[in-house]
Amino acid sequence: MKNPANHDSTLDTACVHAGEEKLEARFGLNTPVITSSAFDYTDGEVRYPRYHNSLNHQVVAAKIARLEGAEAGLVTASGMGSISAVFLSLMKPGDHAVLLDGLYGGTTDLVEGLLTPSGFRFSIWDGDPDHLDSLITPHTRLLLVESPTNPLMTIVDLEHTAAIAQQHDTVSVIDNTFATPVVQQPIRHGFDLVVHSGTKYLGGHSDLLCGALAGSKELIEHIHPTVVRLGSSLNGQDLYLLERSLKTLSLRVRQQSANALELARRLDGHEAIDEVLYPGLPEHPSHTIASGQMKGFGGMLSLRLGKDRDPTRFLDALELIRPAISLGGVETTISQPSRSSHAKLGDSERNRLDIDDHLFRLSTGIEGVDDLWHDLRHALN
Ligand SMILES: Cc1ncc(COP(=O)(O)O)c(C=O)c1O
Repeated sequence: MKNPANHDSTLDTACVHAGEEKLEARFGLNTPVITSSAFDYTDGEVRYPRYHNSLNHQVVAAKIARLEGAEAGLVTASGMGSISAVFLSLMKPGDHAVLLDGLYGGTTDLVEGLLTPSGFRFSIWDGDPDHLDSLITPHTRLLLVESPTNPLMTIVDLEHTAAIAQQHDTVSVIDNTFATPVVQQPIRHGFDLVVHSGTKYLGGHSDLLCGALAGSKELIEHIHPTVVRLGSSLNGQDLYLLERSLKTLSLRVRQQSANALELARRLDGHEAIDEVLYPGLPEHPSHTIASGQMKGFGGMLSLRLGKDRDPTRFLDALELIRPAISLGGVETTISQPSRSSHAKLGDSERNRLDIDDHLFRLSTGIEGVDDLWHDLRHALN
């Protein structure tokens, strides 16, 4: 496996060991799975799984915090559990937030279906740092971005963006699901808070639904009561599964990034492809910014099939790469955003975002890159 020159090998160690508790020898090396939902309270400690204070929760939350370079973390039952807790703990009706254009559909649905009708107010930012200042008002409580974005793989300049939010005393939040802390640690670039759909790369095996938050101790303690009230807690078995998955996060994501870069380069020259969207390609409009803030460029890439090609025939011809909603697993999957993540948008919104049936999103797995290329080339031809 290629090791990018700027690879941080201490992260490999943190994936395996951060957060672990050294228990008595009889428990062995792994964290025991605590299945109890009832605990003796007479020692003065109030323990209950929904309060996020079980051993399994503490170990995995500490590991994620360490990986993100944060003081503290929280694990939730889904990515949306984390995202909704962020909005509901940092804002009240009447407050305002700035959202990057084209956020994950579930986040947009939360904003449009629940928060806006409840009196929360939002502005959409086009990602240009020069346009951000004018969107922030005295009522703005938070800024939420993703980088890279789904599925167009646009990049936000993290340092510049975080600095503008900080000047306005606005909490800067990033959904780091696509990049993972292996590829980018936004807190080190000045962001206040990181959220994850842990269902994707953190879980990494397409068998776990979970979410996570990481930030300062003060912010996490502020969000904690909302997470408890919303009831977005993960059970002991799934917390253990997440801890186990995180031990190989760095290995997996480095292989996924290397595969994605190689596939992006090969796809880029193919006559059936109009465009490859991947920040690791020199012609990506934000390649220089991405190179400065990412270690490797992640496992997600998008491609636009030539207009003379039939998208359904291409999809049907793939044998190894399977169509799937969700991403970040060890297996390579493909999705057509116009029919999956962005299917609910109207035609005009999809046209505005330039998402049509010829656009495909690839979540690159850890398989041999030549086998993946063979499958893609066969389907393209
Ligand atoms: C970028 C991003 N954020 C958040 C979510 C929501 O996560 P979950 O499905 O774990 O609630 C998703 C799910 O696809 C996602 O892709």
